[in-house]
Amino acid sequence: MKAIEIRNKYLNFFKNHNHTIIPSAPLIPENDPSVLFTTAGMQPLVPYLLGQKHPSGKRLTDFQKCLRTNDIDEVGDNRHLTYFEMLGNWSLGDYFKEESIAMSYEFLTKELGIPSEKISVTCFAGDDDCERDNLAAECWKKAGIPEERIYFFGKDDNWWIAGEEGPCGPDTEMFYDTGKPKCSPECNPACGCGKYVEIWNNVFMEFYKDKDGYRKLEQQNVDTGLGLERMAMLLQGKETPFEIEIFEPVMNKLKELSKIDNIQSRRIVAEHLRSSIMIINDGGRPSNVDRGYILRRLLRRMTRHMNKLEIDLENLGEVIDISIESLKELYPELDTNKNNIKQVIIEEKNKFVKTLKNGEKEFDKVANKVKMAGKDIIEAQVVFNLYETYGFPPEMTEELAKEQGLKVDMKNYQKLFEEHQEKSRMGSEAKFKGGLASTGEVETKYHTATHLLNAALKQVLGDHVHQKGSNITAERMRFDFSHGAKMTDEEKAKVEELVNDYIRQDIPVEKLEMKKEDALKLGAEAMFLDKYGDVVTVYKIGDISLELCGGPHVKRTGELGTFKIKKEEASSAGVRRIKAILE
Ligand code: ALA
Repeated sequence: MKAIEIRNKYLNFFKNHNHTIIPSAPLIPENDPSVLFTTAGMQPLVPYLLGQKHPSGKRLTDFQKCLRTNDIDEVGDNRHLTYFEMLGNWSLGDYFKEESIAMSYEFLTKELGIPSEKISVTCFAGDDDCERDNLAAECWKKAGIPEERIYFFGKDDNWWIAGEEGPCGPDTEMFYDTGKPKCSPECNPACGCGKYVEIWNNVFMEFYKDKDGYRKLEQQNVDTGLGLERMAMLLQGKETPFEIEIFEPVMNKLKELSKIDNIQSRRIVAEHLRSSIMIINDGGRPSNVDRGYILRRLLRRMTRHMNKLEIDLENLGEVIDISIESLKELYPELDTNKNNIKQVIIEEKNKFVKTLKNGEKEFDKVANKVKMAGKDIIEAQVVFNLYETYGFPPEMTEELAKEQGLKVDMKNYQKLFEEHQEKSRMGSEAKFKGGLASTGEVETKYHTATHLLNAALKQVLGDHVHQKGSNITAERMRFDFSHGAKMTDEEKAKVEELVNDYIRQDIPVEKLEMKKEDALKLGAEAMFLDKYGDVVTVYKIGDISLELCGGPHVKRTGELGTFKIKKEEASSAGVRRIKAILE
């Protein structure tokens, strides 16, 4: 069954079960600076999972374009993808476990024709926060899954939340048994050996998690996600998603054009190209920060692997055409945007090719120097400079060095690289979080003011307040935060007064470095938890505020002057925006 047929069957099935089909949100989230890309079908629906009324009702279904970048470096193996499509259905305070499970079972067995005996399921085993999900297991038995194929696991396997805070709950996951032998007598769906492949996840979202722990939501929701490419792979009896109709033509073309046979590199090219096409289609452009940097990284890695395959880069246009042709059935809008997408990709490739050429010249200089000095090893710092200044990948430095009988100090390079990554991650968080275009003295003051404002809002409005974004110029600050209602004049006055009070107290602003887990234990505010490394910078302002942040900040709150709220308004669903100044 082709991917498009699976998608159509899915949407129709849920439509017939009284769900409204809603359109996929863009891959680049609207009004949500807290995430780089849409990573799950539920993401655009968060306000509705929290209780806001959805205009299309309480039963929804859609296909969602998703991108997850945590596994970029794994792409090339037989399963990892960055872009994927998630089919989902939702109950917003309508049906719950029984109906959800019955529908999933019916869809898998009747619509997709998967034999019942190939399906195993897992349920939440229970802990201090939430009881064992015996009800889910009972529902599975009722649907037709015998007890021996129902497993129970803890939070690591059967609990779902996007990031560290938000709506969440126990889930039940469905697995397809590939028929491979068990890797050990204990082999079960949680085992990664490949016998069992996860196909669908139904999350019973009735909790909200924040730094204080779990609380019950007002409504019981269901959020499900089924990975389209993976399902197509299984139903087509393929071993990897690269063999399904979305990738096969481009994989074949790459093989034909390659002088070197390397399946990992072909997968990387095909995969990164598809993700890039989808990002550009939704308005993304290569740059050196945030989303643009992810796109740049994908395109550079693609180019490098085309080089590795010794494909003449003049063929890139044709390869893009083939990829778009295979994707068109699922995303017809690609046809209209085709020329634009091609132009962006080819321009970026051309830029990188230049970079590579300059890097090669620089490498020759470096190699000569080493030889002249009678040495045979290129130092880590040199490898790093080639990477940072010329975007010259260390693997390539190593390869070229080898050709000239030289070695490179990769061990220390790795250390340098990790240090750099940590720094740039913190830098990009700071930018992302503070929205700092520049960090002059005034902007630094505003930056500290966002921490005070965040703390004051929590005091006045409650602990549900969290920063959702901010933007700072030398003239003013803008601060977005989660809160469901317009603030009253009284609340605004109180917040203003509190911030000015913190300023008057002239509290020292301390910069601390600690392990992420320790910071969280201390209850630090963190807006983009996923993107922080293991060691984080935390700014502490007396006992008023503790936030993960890259800085910079003033030394004492007394430096800020007088804080004034100029405007309070809606930013997006469930998010308010304050514009304020320091005088
Ligand atoms: N939100 C759930 C997931 O992404 C369905 O797995």
